[in-house]
Amino acid sequence: MKKYTSIAELRTEIKALKRTGKTIGFVPTMGALHEGHLSLARTLKVHCDVRVCSIFVNPTQFNDPKDYQAYVINLENDQKLLEREGVDILFAPSVDEMYPAGFQSTVSLSEITKPWEGASRPGHFAGVATVVTMLFNAVQPDCAIFGEKDFQQLRLIEQMVSDLKMDISIIRGALVRDSDGLALSSRNARLSPQGRVNSLALSRGLYAAKEACQGGEKNAKALEEIVARSVRQVPGAEIDYIAAVREDTLAPVSEIAGACRILVVVKIDGVRLLDNMAIA
Ligand code: PAF
Repeated sequence: MKKYTSIAELRTEIKALKRTGKTIGFVPTMGALHEGHLSLARTLKVHCDVRVCSIFVNPTQFNDPKDYQAYVINLENDQKLLEREGVDILFAPSVDEMYPAGFQSTVSLSEITKPWEGASRPGHFAGVATVVTMLFNAVQPDCAIFGEKDFQQLRLIEQMVSDLKMDISIIRGALVRDSDGLALSSRNARLSPQGRVNSLALSRGLYAAKEACQGGEKNAKALEEIVARSVRQVPGAEIDYIAAVREDTLAPVSEIAGACRILVVVKIDGVRLLDNMAIA
């Protein structure tokens, strides 16, 4: 695997590959890689000739500076995992390379970023949209993959690519769960052993709501309540939001009709856990 930290050097390599007719696929990450990230790299394999993965902990998407300080990655270990996965190129720029002195641009989207994570984490999505635009400009991919775990982020990227006429196919990567149902996330490592057990309340609630929906319950409040009941069994769990939404706009629904998802965010053990599931 080749490794680049400089945008100029990466571009030279990408241009040379493109001249030979190779297509480029891209997996953006913030490191602390787990099976969820690796499955994205694996899924991408059939869509392109060359796979590029980026590892960049983007400071502008942390609305809480303490979270940014606490976000620790092990680049050496991540590198080994990507090598084992057969990824061709790692792009791991420094903060100065991405945001040199004098940087002053922002990419922001309106409606899709207002609710849910956008409301809970002001500025987060402008940071994501801006860095992903810069990463796209550096890597120049033909396709890029984003996981359904961060469903609002995935929708934001799809909207941005469409609005700004970016010539990149966005591939949806399936959310990966542990064998007991917990959605994989770098944050899971911060859970205590009891917190890890308690965190199953999210997926348990979502599966129960999905089953109820498939069994004929179409009232959104009733389905949200099924998830909430499961979460409330965990002492000290703090619900940020549980919402049945349309898949396309992420607008809340009162009745389930067409493609809908339930989004859930709960703090357990002080760790903010995100999960979601297509229910119809
Ligand atoms: O999902 C992530 O890891 C990040 O938000 C991304 C897309 C790499 C942008 O920093």
